[in-house]
Amino acid sequence: MANTGKETYTLSNDNGLEVTFMAHGGRILSIMAPDRKGEVVDVVVGHPNADEAIKGDTYFGALCGRYANRIVKGQFELEGKKYQLAVNNGPNHLHGGNSGFDRKVWEVAPVALAGCTSAYRLTATSADGEENYPGALQMTVVYSLNNQNEFKIEYQVTTSKTTVINMTSHAYFNLNGAGKGKVLDHTLQIKAEKFTPLSAEIGTVTGEIASVSGTAMDFRTAKTLGAAVNSSDAQVKIVDGVDHNFVIDGGGKGVVLAATLADPVSGRKLEVYTDQPGIQIYTGNHFDSTAAGKKGKTVEKYEGVAMETQIFPDSPNKANFPNATLKAGETYKHICIYKFLS
Ligand code: BGC
Repeated sequence: MANTGKETYTLSNDNGLEVTFMAHGGRILSIMAPDRKGEVVDVVVGHPNADEAIKGDTYFGALCGRYANRIVKGQFELEGKKYQLAVNNGPNHLHGGNSGFDRKVWEVAPVALAGCTSAYRLTATSADGEENYPGALQMTVVYSLNNQNEFKIEYQVTTSKTTVINMTSHAYFNLNGAGKGKVLDHTLQIKAEKFTPLSAEIGTVTGEIASVSGTAMDFRTAKTLGAAVNSSDAQVKIVDGVDHNFVIDGGGKGVVLAATLADPVSGRKLEVYTDQPGIQIYTGNHFDSTAAGKKGKTVEKYEGVAMETQIFPDSPNKANFPNATLKAGETYKHICIYKFLS
């Protein structure tokens, strides 16, 4: 019988933290996280169950690729050859196209990892030419959890021929609990002196790398998401909130702390560590109270924030951005750690 991908798997640790995901899209469906009084809530905003997750917004909690985020006009050139990808987001290509990794049914197997209380290995392949990308891919993602409350996502990808790759995980967080209103009172600190500004005409980044100083994108000192979302900054107006890639200070070399999200109500905190050069912060600007959410509610605007570790948007067309090219014989590696504190 064909595997539908509706099977769910749960990682747990000794502190009551539980991460549940499904094979379809490798999608994180829920993360049950205790606060300092021991109250456990689901801090992942999204669909209520696996059935809804398959038919609804398949980016919720999903592994996105081959190229997460946008490629302008879906076009790029590699080793003298031009590629045209699906244009599935205004004039641009988004999250791997019409059928990206968020729609793949991953093979899932438990693995024993030193220092971890649970771990699963997810594997999938992508054929040469799938979604018009070159190269047959072998993809492995390991989800693991330890007693330091670190949920780690580790990617490794190889290709049969030169291609571009940028994977990410697309969970939306609300540390006060999904279905409990907006995330605008959460504070966010980002270790980023710079960000990549957007253009409304292009529909994504211009290629400029700008200072956050004096802009709504200055999260060097923790401030509320509302302070940015409700500001009159032109960058915020373009996307009706925050939907920007930040250049992680010292990023792209080894694993560093990139961002800290904190909820003043519950006291829960989430630190994001990565070895990637960028992090997309997205405040759920397009949620319009139509998607089925948790607790019998719909997902409302600004209800959750995604913190997507990544290479920069449109890197295949921007010589000044980090290189997203992967060649045969090389391995793409990416670590993202979500560490829960209370
Ligand atoms: C992007 C948003 C997009 C969303 C779709 C995010 O990664 O930054 O612009 O609307 O994905 O789920």
